[in-house]
Amino acid sequence: MNTPIIDFVNEYRNSEMIRLHMPGHKGAAFLGREDKYGVLDAFSFDITEIEGADNLYHPEGIIAESEKNATALWGSGKTVYSTEGSSQCIKTMLYLALLHNKRIYGEGFSNRVLAGRNAHGAFMHGAALLDLDVEWIWPDKKSDGMCSCPVTAESLKRMLNGCTKLPMAVYITTPDYLGGNVDVESLAKVCHEAGTLLLVDNAHGAYFKFLPKEYKNYRHPLELGADMCCDSAHKTLPALTGAAYLHFSKNVPVDLTENVKAGMALFGSTSPSYLILESLDFCNKYIYEDYREKLADFCKKSDELKRKITKMGFSVCESDPLKITLAVKGDDGFTGDDLSDELRKNGAEVEFSDIDHVVLMITPENGDEIFSKLEVIFKKIGDSVIFSRKEQDNLCSRKKENGSLHIPERVLSIREAFLADGEYVDIESGRGRICASYSLSCPPAIPIIMPGEKVDEEVFLTLKRYNIKKIRCVSENKWS
Ligand SMILES: Cc1ncc(COP(=O)(O)O)c(C=O)c1O
Repeated sequence: MNTPIIDFVNEYRNSEMIRLHMPGHKGAAFLGREDKYGVLDAFSFDITEIEGADNLYHPEGIIAESEKNATALWGSGKTVYSTEGSSQCIKTMLYLALLHNKRIYGEGFSNRVLAGRNAHGAFMHGAALLDLDVEWIWPDKKSDGMCSCPVTAESLKRMLNGCTKLPMAVYITTPDYLGGNVDVESLAKVCHEAGTLLLVDNAHGAYFKFLPKEYKNYRHPLELGADMCCDSAHKTLPALTGAAYLHFSKNVPVDLTENVKAGMALFGSTSPSYLILESLDFCNKYIYEDYREKLADFCKKSDELKRKITKMGFSVCESDPLKITLAVKGDDGFTGDDLSDELRKNGAEVEFSDIDHVVLMITPENGDEIFSKLEVIFKKIGDSVIFSRKEQDNLCSRKKENGSLHIPERVLSIREAFLADGEYVDIESGRGRICASYSLSCPPAIPIIMPGEKVDEEVFLTLKRYNIKKIRCVSENKWS
């Protein structure tokens, strides 16, 4: 029998490509030891809930102790581990907010959540499983292409004032996939004045807590007033894929933290990975030792590289320091996918590209040598690729203005759409039908269409632009 996955990964390891993508450990070994063949032996670290190994969903021993260490590092009211990413934490946050609302309002509870439209798929899954009534918060004007959703305090206040019943929570995704941020502090004030909870998907911002003060636009959501937030450790810290944190503010009602393990168990496997738990445990030590200094130094170098690439004529958009986001002319010119191909040819694999953007994700585990390597690579690409420097002028802001936001008609709830009989069809055949799943240009882009919404002409054209070929639609015999 062949081993296609191992073969692929082995080839990638041996290629020594620069990893400008997740996970944050960049392939450096923090776990395991070499076996007799010189292969890293992580298997001997993979155990289950044997005597003394504690239980993630009823922790009283070593896991409780390690979670306490994480709580101290983040200065939270409580921090718990997830071995199934921020995805598990997002569903749990929604579950906890719903339970809390039921506790306060009894039969008159609200299952409504106001959510920034750039929500990740895990939010949709949570909304479907918990049968939530989602009202989208759209950007005030135009968005950054399809990848961000700058929710403002004013628009949130307006929406909350317009609600006949207070929603159970407000849900925001920040930083977004391009490294853009919203003003969590103002949003938290609006939520708390209204009497609702603010939940933040901070999957990409675990490291914000440890940034130097000068990065004042990139502070951790808990410090800015969020009630609960999730951080994917595996995206920006040296943890295994799947490792994440669910944090609670010190001010949250006690039932939220009391019910957290029940919620995490509801959405997780009964066999959580000890390898992932060990990598989270390791992260505590790693952060405690000299991470702040390492990060500060690395971010300075990253800023310097961004300045150099900008001088070469590339459009580097404002982003959090561990992302390098480039805007590219797109459509009839040089696309983000073209730039990502050029980078690959030169030995660097990126996190994401589409028509308009390329996103690189870096961490101190890449080592300082990536800065000189990337400088050489960008210089080479800039010299050889035919794209007009003039076209690059103000491209980041022009891309924002280009963003065409279109609000499709909702026909079914998210739950009804996910649970309806559905089929994959070519997008041509999907015109006019109801979407049964979501289509993204990139996670967590502003989805072009959400489950339960109608594929109208504008949606169809946008799907085409993003080269989406198939779409899952609700079967016609059910809902015609
Ligand atoms: C903004 C955002 N939220 C949530 C997730 C899910 O995180 P995880 O992969 O840790 O489950 C992702 C994953 O890419 C994401 O980009």
